[in-house]
Amino acid sequence: MTDTLTLPDRPASATPPKTMADTLSVTDNRTGKSYEFPIADGTIKATDLRQIKTSDEDFGLMTYDPAFMNTASCRSAITFIDGDKGILRYRGYPIEQLAEQASFLEVAYLLFEGELPSQAQLDKWTADIRYHTYVHTNVIKFLEGFRYDAHPMGMLLGAVGALSTFYPDAKHIDDPANRYVQKVRLMAKLPTLAAFAFRHNRGLPYEFPRNDLDYIGNYVNMMFSIGGKHEPNKVLQRALEILLILHADHEQNCSTSAVRSVGSSHVDPFSAVSAGIAALYGPLHGGANEAVLLMLDEIGEKKNIPAFIEKVKAGTGRLMGFGHRVYKNYDPRAKLIKRIADDVFGQTGMNPKLEIALELERIALEDEYFIKRKLYPNVDFYSGLIYQAMGYPTDYFTVLFAVGRLPGWLAQWEEMLKDKDQKIARPRQIYTGYDERPFVPMKNRK
Ligand SMILES: CC(C)(COP(=O)(O)OP(=O)(O)OC[C@H]1O[C@@H](n2cnc3c(N)ncnc32)[C@H](O)[C@@H]1OP(=O)(O)O)[C@@H](O)C(=O)NCCC(=O)NCCS
Repeated sequence: MTDTLTLPDRPASATPPKTMADTLSVTDNRTGKSYEFPIADGTIKATDLRQIKTSDEDFGLMTYDPAFMNTASCRSAITFIDGDKGILRYRGYPIEQLAEQASFLEVAYLLFEGELPSQAQLDKWTADIRYHTYVHTNVIKFLEGFRYDAHPMGMLLGAVGALSTFYPDAKHIDDPANRYVQKVRLMAKLPTLAAFAFRHNRGLPYEFPRNDLDYIGNYVNMMFSIGGKHEPNKVLQRALEILLILHADHEQNCSTSAVRSVGSSHVDPFSAVSAGIAALYGPLHGGANEAVLLMLDEIGEKKNIPAFIEKVKAGTGRLMGFGHRVYKNYDPRAKLIKRIADDVFGQTGMNPKLEIALELERIALEDEYFIKRKLYPNVDFYSGLIYQAMGYPTDYFTVLFAVGRLPGWLAQWEEMLKDKDQKIARPRQIYTGYDERPFVPMKNRK
């Protein structure tokens, strides 16, 4: 990709630059000095701006960018999103094709290694993971210490962080062979811990991994098996697998940034991933599908939809599951999820809330308010309905998201470690507090 000198908002009549170059010219009107900065991949280096100073003592110019709205914090070859066109690709492969044809473990391998595995590579990868599905008995004791009604995400976050104490060798993050073992351990043990958290809430004994089953089959069995028995439903298992694939990575989202940021301190990957789980726990990130269900409950019946839409348009509340920071088009994952809904409801029977959701979507997509703001259904609009139909309680939806997102977190963590440009993450601030002032002894305070 080449960049030419572009001056934003240049009026059509302005004199064009004499020579076109991949640089940006800046004049500091405080000093009258001009600077030229290289442009690469549509960016300038923020640190180049430090040359812009008013005096030798001046620290240099910074950018102010809360929430990283316009700052690329890394180079990444993992996931590509074009939010305007509604495109999502992992390592170049369209999400639609992966969802249709790949297994979750194949996608995880692709995210880590950059290429789809050969049969022999996939067999080894699958066998390595199978070998590590059990957790140390003391982890179970640790989980048993949680209150009977502990939120499963809180349990997962604590348990994954605790794993670092069971594998102190994980701190050798510079050794690729060691990193591979920790990735395998996390991929293998996260479903086990997630299933234990699922059963903890129900007061059910933990069901141990069954390594004769595949990755998804084993996970589902650990959650739903009663008395050692569970009748697998292959349609529902494939639907769950596709949902995990759709969530596997989404470039520099909040939880992935958390994993990268915490991992940049060179802590072990269990601790870095637990930071990702913590970020995902927040309602602005992983919790929106639960909000969609609450909204559908509030609407109650199809006839109430127009009044609800009017309320949203008047600024009272939002249409949950609509809109996205990046996608200004139909979220490609939402399209795929809608198809999965048909398969799932074919097995479980129709959820009356789906009819409300479909009608809500139809009306919203024809409404000027939503069209003008480019608000389309996002991944969460239908996923909660599907999870509910499959028998998962609402507080468990985010755990399923975490199991799906793990390969993305780990792939991004490793990419960050290998990236020579990266250092410990440490943003700057604009200090707005007091200037120096003397300490006030207690007797003199008001
Ligand atoms: C996802 C979300 C946080 C993105 O927010 P954002 O990129 O910061 O967009 P903004 O909040 O600036 O919204 C832009 C405009 O669209 C409106 N808007 C955005 N999402 C809306 C929604 N779901 N319902 C109604 N109006 C919405 C805003 O009110 C704003 O309107 P205005 O320009 O008249 O003020 C936002 O769309 C949202 O809250 N959606 C519902 C929650 C959800 O589904 N989250 C899951 C995301 S995967």
